[in-house]
Amino acid sequence: MRITLTKPDDFHLHLRDGDALKSVLPHTAERFARAMVMPNLRPPATTVEQARAYHGRILAALPEGASFTPLMALYLTDNTPPEEIAHARQSGIVHAVKLYPAGATTNSDSGVTDLRKVEPTLRTMAELRMPLLVHGEVTDPRVDVFDRELMFIEHVLRPLLDRIPDLRVVLEHITTREAAAFVQHAGINVAATITPQHLLMNRNALFQGGIRPHHYCLPVLKREHHREALVEVAISGNPKFFLGTDSAPHTRPTKEAACGCAGIYSAHAAIELYAEAFEEAGALDRLDAFASRFGAEYYGLFRNRATIVLEKTEWEVPASYPMGDSTVVPLRAGERMGWRLVR
Ligand code: NCD
Ligand code: ZN
Repeated sequence: MRITLTKPDDFHLHLRDGDALKSVLPHTAERFARAMVMPNLRPPATTVEQARAYHGRILAALPEGASFTPLMALYLTDNTPPEEIAHARQSGIVHAVKLYPAGATTNSDSGVTDLRKVEPTLRTMAELRMPLLVHGEVTDPRVDVFDRELMFIEHVLRPLLDRIPDLRVVLEHITTREAAAFVQHAGINVAATITPQHLLMNRNALFQGGIRPHHYCLPVLKREHHREALVEVAISGNPKFFLGTDSAPHTRPTKEAACGCAGIYSAHAAIELYAEAFEEAGALDRLDAFASRFGAEYYGLFRNRATIVLEKTEWEVPASYPMGDSTVVPLRAGERMGWRLVR
């Protein structure tokens, strides 16, 4: 069996930089026409100028003949001035601004400490219709790690949208039933991305026969009933929910460590993993809209004309892929996949 899809877009992707970028980019460029590239580099891309330079490095790292467009996101800090938003709007390459609560995840130290500090900037974003991409977790160490998304929604996001109701917000990588419901019931300015891991796994996967660092990402995997809720909204045909892999490569030694990094690498089989999740839910016919239409519509981008073909053929995922001078262990390493990218 084969299915043809409009070439999809990945609206949440970590490409890193330098040699690592060169290693991982081909996986995404083969499958996706465009991707929203996260700015959590070291140092983070906080200005249009830095985003433009990063954009150039991504284009330069593309394999010969690849047609792939990076969509850039600015990293919001306590000091991002409203003028930078206007500048971003005019740039033609910056399509969003990313909010990392300070300390929430990998390379988030320069993130926002208090949203009230950037209120004028957020108001300018609402005026200029510049989407705010949100890592939706509180960082208070007293809050249980499994409750951080819910607490963020209730104590940060809901009040923010009460103050600035027309702010365009994408709640990134949602992981809970409550987040799905919040987005469903919010205004049309509010949308969400969903990763393959949160559609395919629950938190048991973190402890399957022992501790599994390669299943650790943020926000962390949740209970089965949350996974079920995410599948429900992903296949619902509601355009507020669209594809964002959050593929986040870390080298093997930094994952397999006493304090391993958060992030799952899925770019090598991203659309294939979504196909599996949609097929399992009996909704393969809904995959094209989720993967290739709704995100582009939200961002006001044209629909891709190219297509890809997936075939129901088994293949084995390699134990690792090169990443710079090290390796990265991909999702499903050494296991079999049911869908394969044909072209
Ligand atoms: C991401 C990373 O490694 O950059 N990690 C992750 O677990 N998702 C950061 C992020 O998106 O939280
Ligand atoms: Zn991410």
